[in-house]
Amino acid sequence: MKVAVITGSGGLIGSESVAFFADKFDLIVGIDNDMRQYFFGKEASTDWNRHRLQERFPNYRHYPLDIRDQTAVEKVFMEYGKDISLVVHAAAQPSHDWAAKEPFTDFTINANGTLNMLEYTRQHAPEAVFIFTSTNKVYGDNPNFLPLIELESRWEIDTAHPYYKEGIDERMSLDHTTHSLFGASKVAADVLVQEYGNYFGMKTGVFRGGCLTGPNHSGAQLHGFLSYLAKCAITGNHYTIFGYKGKQVRDNIHSYDLVNMFWHFYQNPRSGEAYNAGGSRFSNCSMLEAIELCEEISGKKINYSLSDQNRKGDHIWYISNVEKFRAHYPGWEFKFDLKTTLTEIIDNMAKRDH
Ligand SMILES: NC(=O)c1ccc[n+]([C@@H]2O[C@H](COP(=O)([O-])OP(=O)(O)OC[C@H]3O[C@@H](n4cnc5c(N)ncnc54)[C@H](O)[C@@H]3O)[C@@H](O)[C@H]2O)c1
Repeated sequence: MKVAVITGSGGLIGSESVAFFADKFDLIVGIDNDMRQYFFGKEASTDWNRHRLQERFPNYRHYPLDIRDQTAVEKVFMEYGKDISLVVHAAAQPSHDWAAKEPFTDFTINANGTLNMLEYTRQHAPEAVFIFTSTNKVYGDNPNFLPLIELESRWEIDTAHPYYKEGIDERMSLDHTTHSLFGASKVAADVLVQEYGNYFGMKTGVFRGGCLTGPNHSGAQLHGFLSYLAKCAITGNHYTIFGYKGKQVRDNIHSYDLVNMFWHFYQNPRSGEAYNAGGSRFSNCSMLEAIELCEEISGKKINYSLSDQNRKGDHIWYISNVEKFRAHYPGWEFKFDLKTTLTEIIDNMAKRDH
């Protein structure tokens, strides 16, 4: 039997992974305890998504356990052992701001939780491919010290800089920078995943996401900006942009395109590799540009305001260079551009009852 274990299976990336891999594996084991509801409130609960998966995929089996609970996690690995050929580890505390509220919770989920997943994979399914969703926040605020230029609707990097053409690559330093506590707990996990590849020879891959997005995000003010923006467009709720005059640039990758990267990696895995994985030059926008596009698609005005105060450690301009991944996996390509993604999010959001 071929089994895939997916943590954070109710979340954006976890649920996309379940849908993507359901017909490629005999059994999908999903782990998610809906902690997103604890982090961001009832409106951000991922329970609706878990129900959707259980209805849609008969070979999906859900375990509502906490990845910090070593006994419970090990039990799952003991149950399926070497049948496990893929682990997608996407469960996390995902917000900068929230991490500062409860540092112990953030660190034990992001760092210790990742260690639990890695170590039980090593003990019970060492041949499995292990995929980890890291973040561009591992570079801390280093991107903010690039030569940036203010344009009418966005910040942009100097055209003479080597990052202008394709964006920021994996050689950017992880040191000498403010990460936020969230960034720090993700660095710990990111380095652990690389180390289980480099030191133990396991097939581990780290994907440092830009903004990950798609219709199955349970958007909250503190996490999932496109999804939350779409929600504000539909409900008329107020949206606050924090700092940088709304000109901060993010690259956005549809959850399908990211999980398709995982699929390519799974089929031809390497050890201890780290990849920047965002929308790149192909799909990016400033907050102001996102609002304009959202208004164009939804036909509704967004009720927003600009706050002078930026989020600590927040990026002014971040565009991922995905050329390293492309060089290793030339068969992979983007499917969703920004407009298609946002249209899909808005259409789906309008159909959802919350
Ligand atoms: N969404 C983004 O913009 C973004 C950007 C960069 C990196 N990432 C990373 O990608 C991964 C997936 O992000 P996402 O957007 O799908 O997040 P998400 O919040 O939608 O999904 C994460 C899921 O993990 C679950 N979870 C949290 N703590 C848990 C625990 N202790 N035990 C079991 N389940 C737990 C949550 O309930 C949630 O359903 C995370 O590691 C995140 O840090 C996300």
